[in-house]
Amino acid sequence: MAKINIRIEGLPYQVDEGLTILEAARQCGYEIPSLCNYNHGECNRASCRVCLVEVKGARGLVASCVYPVHEGMEVKIASPIASQARRTSVELLLSNHSMQCQQCAKNEKCELLHVARLTGARENMYLGEKTPVSIDRINPAITRDTSKCILCGRCVARCANAHGNGILGFENRGFNTIVGPAENRNFNDSPCIMCGQCVSVCPVGALMEKSEIDKVDEAFRQGKYVVVQTAPAVRAALGEEFGMKIGTPVTGKMVAALRRLGFHKVFDTNFGADLTIMEEAHELIDRLNHPDSVLPMITSCSPGWVNYAEYYYSDLIPHLSSCKSPHEMEGAILKHYYAQKVGVKPEDMFVVSIMPCTAKKFEKERPQNMVDGLKDVDAVLTTRELGKMIRRAGINFIKLNDEEFDEDIVGQYTGAGVIFGVTGGVMEAALRTAYFAITGEEYGMINFTQVRGFDGIKDASLNINGTVLNIAVAHGMKNAKVLLDDIRAGKSKYHFIEIMGCPGGCINGGGQPYVRECFLPNEDIDIVDTYKQKRANALYSEDERKRIRQSHNNPQLKALYLDFLGNPNSHKAHHLLHTSYEAKVPFND
Ligand code: FES
Repeated sequence: MAKINIRIEGLPYQVDEGLTILEAARQCGYEIPSLCNYNHGECNRASCRVCLVEVKGARGLVASCVYPVHEGMEVKIASPIASQARRTSVELLLSNHSMQCQQCAKNEKCELLHVARLTGARENMYLGEKTPVSIDRINPAITRDTSKCILCGRCVARCANAHGNGILGFENRGFNTIVGPAENRNFNDSPCIMCGQCVSVCPVGALMEKSEIDKVDEAFRQGKYVVVQTAPAVRAALGEEFGMKIGTPVTGKMVAALRRLGFHKVFDTNFGADLTIMEEAHELIDRLNHPDSVLPMITSCSPGWVNYAEYYYSDLIPHLSSCKSPHEMEGAILKHYYAQKVGVKPEDMFVVSIMPCTAKKFEKERPQNMVDGLKDVDAVLTTRELGKMIRRAGINFIKLNDEEFDEDIVGQYTGAGVIFGVTGGVMEAALRTAYFAITGEEYGMINFTQVRGFDGIKDASLNINGTVLNIAVAHGMKNAKVLLDDIRAGKSKYHFIEIMGCPGGCINGGGQPYVRECFLPNEDIDIVDTYKQKRANALYSEDERKRIRQSHNNPQLKALYLDFLGNPNSHKAHHLLHTSYEAKVPFND
C-alpha cells in the first residue's frame, strides 16, 4: 500500500494511503475516542461526534472516523478546541443515558464509560427530558434496554450484514428515536434469529445476552450434580477476557477455572461434536443412497441458522439434518446414559453449556429437544458470562496451570470435533467420516482446505469411489440466502451444505468476547481484519495436535454405540439425538 506524509501535533508521520484520520492516528500511536464507527466502515454514520479533530484548512472540526488522510495533512488531536468538542459530544450522550453504571452488566466493558474517562466528560451537564424508554427482557437469549442506547447504529449495520434481512432499525423520529425491531416489537414477536451479533457490537449495555449465571448459582445451592461442557470456540477466545492475545488457546486454563468454580464434572462438547458427525454423516449417506431423498442436506448445528430457516425458508425444512446440535447431544447422553453410570438421577443432574453463542440459550428451550420430559441442557452461559464468573470468584486465570477435561466414558474427543467452531469445520469433519463410512478407508488428505477461510461461500467437489459429491459452505445469513434461493429455484448442484448463522462461524459467535481496540491494548491495530483467523488458527492447531482426528475413530464413541446406542441413526439414537423443526411466521400479531 502506498504511503503518504501527514503531520499530527506537528510531528511528521508516514501512513497508509486510504486510511481515515482515526485509523492513521492509531498507526502512529494515538487513540482518538470513537463510538459509532465500527469495523472498517461496517458502520460509519459519523453520528456520535466523539472523534472530532482539527485539520488545517478544513471548515470546522472533522469526524476523524470518516475523514480520509491526504498528502501533507496536518491534524491536531489535543488542541483545546478539539478536546473540548469531544468532551461536549460525550456529555450530550450521557445526558440521555440511564447512568445506572453500577447495576449495568456491561460496566466492565462499556465503551461509553471508556470515552467518558478519555475525554474527561462530566455527568449531568445537560439535565432535562429523556427519550421514552423501551425494555425487552422476555426473550430467552437477548435483552434490549433503550435507556442505555446511544443511537450509534452499529447493531443496525451488523444485523443487516449477519441476518441478511436486518430486523433492527431506527424507530420514530427526532428526540423519540430508538433502535429496535419493526414497530418497536419485542424480539419474541419479530423474526430475530438470536445470533447475538447485535450484542457483540453494542458499545453500551443496550443489547445484552440474557444472563443465566443466577440459574447456575441456584443449581449449586440446591445441591444438584452440576456438570459443565464447553464448546470448541470458547477456548479460542476466553483468554481475551483476561487480556491475553487474540487466538491464544486456553483449553487447559479454562478447565482448571471450571473446576475451581465447583463444577462436579468438566466435559468437552467436542465429544458431542464427534457424535453429531457420526449421526450426520450417516444421515447424509442414507439420503445419498435413496433416490427419493431430499438433497442437498443442510447442517443443523447452528441455532441461529435453524431459526432463520423456520422463519424465512420453512419450505426447505426437509433439507435440514434432523441431528441436534453437539451440546444438546452431549446433554442428552449425560442425562440418559452417563447419569446412570455414575449413579445420579437424571433429574438431579444440571447440565451447563459454555457457548460462544446467544442463540443456544433459546435452543435449549425448544420443546422438540426434550427427551422423556427432561431438557438436554439446563443453562447456557456465553464465553463472556464465563469470564465474569471467573473474575467474580477471584480466580487468577492467567496464573492457572493447565488441567485436562474429565475423560470418563463420554469425555474423549478428536480433532474433528474441535474444528466445529469455525466456518467449514463441520463440513470438513463430516467429510472425514463420510468418506470412511462409504469406502472403508481413511480420506488421505485429512485437512480439507477447500472449505477453510472466510469467503462468504466456499464450494468443492469430492470424488468418492467414482461418485462426485458437491458440497458448499456459507456463513452469515446474507451468504446463506444465495444458496437457499438456488435450492428453492431447483438450481442447486449441491448434495451437502454447511450453514452457520454467525459470520466466520462460532469463533465469531454473539457470545464471544468483545473485539474492540480500547479493550485490547496489546493487539495490533488491524485486529478487526484478523481476529477471526487468529481464533480459527487456535482450533486448527488443536486439531493438528490431536492423535485421533476423525470422529469415527473416537474410542469412547465406539464404546457408546456398542454399549448403548447401537448403530448411528438407530431408533435409540433418533429418540435421544435427533429433533424436528416447525415453520414460523416472521411477524406475529
Ligand atoms: Fe466518529 Fe462517531 S466515532 S462520529
